[in-house]
Amino acid sequence: MSRFERKILFAIGLSVFLTLGGSIFLAGGAVREVYRVGVNERFGAELVRGVEARRGQIMALRSGSEQVADAVEWAVAAEVTARRNTSRIEGRLQELLQRYDLVRGIRVTDEANAEIARVSREPDPSGAVMRTTTRDRDVDAGGMKLRVAVEVAVPEAYFERLQDAGEVADVYSRLQRQSASVSDIYVWVFGIMAFLVIVVAFLIGAIVSRRVTRRVTALAEASRQVGAGDLTVTLPTGSNDEVTELTQAFNDMVRDLRDSRARIEYMQRISAWQDFARRLAHEIKNPLTPIQLAAQELDETYDGENEAYRKKLEHARAIIEEEVATLRRLVGEFSSFAKLPRADLSPSDLCDLAHGIQDAVPAILEDVGRGTPAPVEVRVTCATEPIRVRMDPMMLKRGVDNLLRNAIQSVYEAHPSGGGEVLVRAYRTEASGVIEVRDNGPGISRENWDRVFDPYYTTKTEGTGLGLAIVKKVVLEHGGQVRLDRAPEGGARFSIELPLMDSP
Ligand SMILES: Nc1ncnc2c1ncn2[C@@H]1O[C@H](COP(=O)(O)OP(=O)(O)OP(=O)(O)O)[C@@H](O)[C@H]1O
Ligand SMILES: [Mg+2]
Repeated sequence: MSRFERKILFAIGLSVFLTLGGSIFLAGGAVREVYRVGVNERFGAELVRGVEARRGQIMALRSGSEQVADAVEWAVAAEVTARRNTSRIEGRLQELLQRYDLVRGIRVTDEANAEIARVSREPDPSGAVMRTTTRDRDVDAGGMKLRVAVEVAVPEAYFERLQDAGEVADVYSRLQRQSASVSDIYVWVFGIMAFLVIVVAFLIGAIVSRRVTRRVTALAEASRQVGAGDLTVTLPTGSNDEVTELTQAFNDMVRDLRDSRARIEYMQRISAWQDFARRLAHEIKNPLTPIQLAAQELDETYDGENEAYRKKLEHARAIIEEEVATLRRLVGEFSSFAKLPRADLSPSDLCDLAHGIQDAVPAILEDVGRGTPAPVEVRVTCATEPIRVRMDPMMLKRGVDNLLRNAIQSVYEAHPSGGGEVLVRAYRTEASGVIEVRDNGPGISRENWDRVFDPYYTTKTEGTGLGLAIVKKVVLEHGGQVRLDRAPEGGARFSIELPLMDSP
């Protein structure tokens, strides 16, 4: 794991820990506080007291009903004792029933368990459920043994309320006992959740940071390669983030380095070739005059009779003079290549250059056609807006002349009796002013695209192969580029790109 990943994971861990840890702490405190306020002993004691009060009420009702039963027994005994017999005591029993609400019914039997009298109350019209108990006792009424059963009833609701209150008090006391452990459970649950969140956050963090570090490591490795001189590296750019921007910037930087290294190498090569041309021109130029003079002298000083030999001499002198003239032209071109001045840049309009080229077209056509204009259609176009670049108009014109001459030569060779077309076009792109020369000739095969810019590369019997080398040198001195590709017309297209002065 890289240091960067460790730092990211540490940051994720710390932030999750602080936020979740804080909330667990606060939530635990809040739960405890809720219990402290809501589940305390005072409430509990109050509830228990409520339960006891209800129980007391029921006890009171019970003892009340005992007393009522006592009173009813006593009244029955008194009635029977007073009357000295047991007939017609129902009236008295009815009275007793009216007097004591709790009594539901009274039954009087004799010693032999034969019923003497019985009264009972109509069921309660409210429909309230009652809990009834019957008390059965022997009573002595002036010597007569009687058995009096008194049925008393207490509303069931009293017992239910007691039961409810008991349950509430029970639950409450359980809550009270559990209050400490419940808040602990909350803390545990939160803790486990926090742990899971931390694990998930770590996993996501690890995946995300791994992707970033992998790309950063690739960048570092590529930088090392570039440092070691390998300028062929390019890194893939995929998503849309800062690392991609960095990668893009890195790729741009490597491409610029590559371009400027190629530029420097080319200029070094050209300068070596210029040296070579200078020496060659010098070495060839000096013996040319003596050779020519010697040939002339040989021819002029022969005064022999042999006519055939005289003819031979004249022929040899003509050949020598012709070849010497060719060598002189070559020497001239070599030394002008050797003395090629550096471009002297000043702000100019690329369209002015195009117009200058237009003016030179007839002379070039005539030159290529060796006296009669070659039947080639040449068009020169330019945008109406000026295309402002820094350039040396003389040298650049010489370069474009060369491109135009090459194009005309190539289409003239392919279509000697007409049909050849050449287009010279000046236009601008976002950052460059471009002047291109394209034709419908045979074009240049892909494997020679780099070689044609080498000095002395030529396919023409009378060519020096210096034309394109000069073009490239001049354009590089302008801080520009010259590109070669296939023209839409099928021939070659040479494009000179110069940095625009007013580009953003
Ligand atoms: N428009 C073109 N179509 C086809 N081939 C071309 C074209 N322009 C250049 N070439 C090829 O590139 C070679 C090099 O061109 P360059 O201008 O450097 O020298 P050259 O034209 O042969 O000689 P010089 O310029 O001295 O007359 C040419 O010989 C030719 O083979
Ligand atoms: Mg040429």
